[in-house]
Formats: sequence, C-alpha cells, structure tokens
Amino acid sequence: MPGYEVLGEEEKKQILEVLASKVLFRYEFHAQRAGVYKVAEFEKAFSEYCGVKCALAVSSGTAALKVALAALGIGPGDEVITQGFTFVATWEAILEAGAIPIFAEIDDTLCMDPGAIRKKVTSRTKAILPVHMCGGQARIDEITGVANKLGIPVIEDTAQACGGSFKGKKLGSFGAMGCFSFDSVKTITTGEGGMVTTDDQNLYTRASEYHDHGHDHDVRVGRGLEKRNFVGFNYRMMELQGALGLAQLEKLDPVIIKRQRENKQVLKDALTAVKGVTFRTLPDPEGDIASFLIFFLPTTEKARTFAMAMAQEGSPPVYWHENTWHYYGKWEHLLEGKSPLSSGYPFRDPEGAVRASFHPEALPITSSILSKALTIPINVNMEKDLPGKLKAIGKAAEVLKAA
Ligand SMILES: Cc1ncc(COP(=O)(O)O)c(C=O)c1O
Repeated sequence: MPGYEVLGEEEKKQILEVLASKVLFRYEFHAQRAGVYKVAEFEKAFSEYCGVKCALAVSSGTAALKVALAALGIGPGDEVITQGFTFVATWEAILEAGAIPIFAEIDDTLCMDPGAIRKKVTSRTKAILPVHMCGGQARIDEITGVANKLGIPVIEDTAQACGGSFKGKKLGSFGAMGCFSFDSVKTITTGEGGMVTTDDQNLYTRASEYHDHGHDHDVRVGRGLEKRNFVGFNYRMMELQGALGLAQLEKLDPVIIKRQRENKQVLKDALTAVKGVTFRTLPDPEGDIASFLIFFLPTTEKARTFAMAMAQEGSPPVYWHENTWHYYGKWEHLLEGKSPLSSGYPFRDPEGAVRASFHPEALPITSSILSKALTIPINVNMEKDLPGKLKAIGKAAEVLKAA
C-alpha cells in the first residue's frame, strides 16, 4: 500500500518548485506563482491516468466522500447503501452529510455483494457506495448494473485501490463519482489528501464549488468578486500536496504496483501449497494493485490457529474480524450511537427520537467471511521481510496440519 516507501528526489524537486514560487495556495496569485499550478497539474494528470473527464483534488479521502455526496445533493432524509467492511470514514461521511448509512453484506471479494443491494433499497436510497477494499475490486460491473436499473447513482470509494482496474478500466471511473485518498499509508501519498473523479461536468462544477466555500470560480472576475450558487465548506488541497501527488503518480505503475505484485506473488505461491487455504476472489486479477494478500481458512478456528502460529514466528497477519477500524461489528461508537452533540444527532433528531440505529448482529455474512480471512499487507520494499514471512507461513502450515 505505501507510497511513503518511495518518497525521494522526485518529490523533493516538485516541492522545491512550490517553495521557490512562494505560493502555497491553489487559487489566484497568478503573477507571483510564475506558472506553477501543482494542484491543477495533479488533477489533470490524475484524470488522464484514470480515464475520466474531471478530477478535483481535496484535503482528504474523507473530504472526497463528503464532497461527492454534496455534489449529488444527498443529505437529511436520504439513505446511502454501503458495506460493513470498510474504514469508518465511508459511513462517517454519510452521517456528516446528514444521510443514513445502510449496511449491505460483502461477498468473497470482501466488497459489497451486488446481490445484497436490492434488499436494502428503499424510496429514500439516494446513492450506492461500494468500497474497493484492500487493493482489489468490488464486482463493480454488476453493482453499476443493479444501480442503473434502479436509477440510483454509484459513488466508488476507491481510497484503498488507487491504480486498480477492472477489465482495463480504472476503478473510480465506473460510478457517477469516484473518491480517492492519499493519506500517509495509501498507495500514493500526499501526506493528507484526496481526489474526486467524474465524467459529469455538472457534478464536477458542484463538487468544485462546494469544496471551496461555494465560490463559483468565475475566472473573468477574480477570486474576490466570485459569486456563490450555494453554501460550501473548505476542503481544498494545497500546492505542496499537489507537488507530492505529481511525483507519486509517476511511480504508481512502474514502481509501486509492479513491486507489490512481485512481492505478493512470492507469498501467494507459498500459501497455495497449504492445504485448505483459498484466496479472496478478485473479479479481475490483472487489475489488482496487490497491496494486500487475503486468504481464507476453512473455519474460524483454523484461521485463528494459523494467525497465532504466524504471530509466534513474528509475522502476525491482520485479522479484520477483530479490527476496530474496519469491521462493522467492532464500531462501538456507531453501534452505541455515540454523538459529541447534546442533541444526540445524527443518531437522534432534535426532539430526541431515534433517526438511526445499528444492530451489532446485522451483518452475519460479513462476520462469517471476515472470521475466516487473514491478511498479509504487501509493501513495495519488503525483500528483507519476505524470508521471515515465508518461514511463518511454513510454520503455521505445520501447526495447522498437526491440529
Ligand atoms: C476505504 C476508505 N475510505 C475512506 C478513507 C478516508 O481517507 P482519508 O484518511 O484520506 O480521509 C480511507 C482511509 O483509510 C479508507 O480506507
């Protein structure tokens, strides 16, 4: 997953250009900046890379989701269908918009099950928000197929799968809008940062205005005289981040994804030899960015035994079922409806009535799938780690056999 591993001279060069211009702000200051527009350049390069018409850089992946929801006009009274295996940001953004997240089950891709969508649709459903988890793809063609029939827009949370594709088309370019994160542990990083992608000029304009206090960005009048079509907020990216993004994007395919694929294959080969191990389904293995290797054991007990044996060798795999950041069953603040506000919003309305509640046992299939899944995060530079991980896999296989 990590763009930070390849930070180097290219990023330094880009950043120094910004510092030399002395303009850190993405808009205005045309005379001082001497032609340096890093955020705008990054947006252009990113939209070309993703094969979309428009890209809007924002301050984080969470902001990208919030901006996309606002662009689509989603708010109080609306529901958004998402999944119970994701980072909390996905549903935080939905709640922050004033809408209610409705959680659908995942399937063996560890992403939204297209077959689970219809069961969750109501007259209030205003978007379907699948998450391309852990570098792999959701069954995005099937999901957009269902959504199109229902006439509901899809927002792709592509925070964890930047650079991934399905049948040659980049993830984040299938739905009405795609959302990316460039935070410190993502495939490419700008420290904090994100991107919203779309082919729809109208949605882009709304997103662009909303992320900058509603400014209409009328270049004829200049920033101080711009008008506003609606209220917005500040989710802008700054020039230093744009500079980092440009350097990182250059490395995404030839260095980051390439090396991750090589490293993943070494570990996958070793696991293929272990009886009972199966792998997470990737709808298009060619488009996997290989930032995680996820495998299943036949039972929960066997998964725990295998994980413990690997941990004893100093290489613990990630067990998402116990993970408090990514798994519905462990989101205690959501399940207990904990709000910082005295009114209890967004879980309660101003009169105190419950507007959203979430049952811990609501996603039995997601729970069952994750309870058997183990994950090895893949790095770009892991030559030194590979022997230890291979040894741990070998040892765990022996323990499993003896059990
Ligand atoms: C699936 C998913 N969505 C959204 C985000 C939010 O991105 P950011 O940390 O840039 O706000 C993340 C970050 O980890 C993520 O994994």
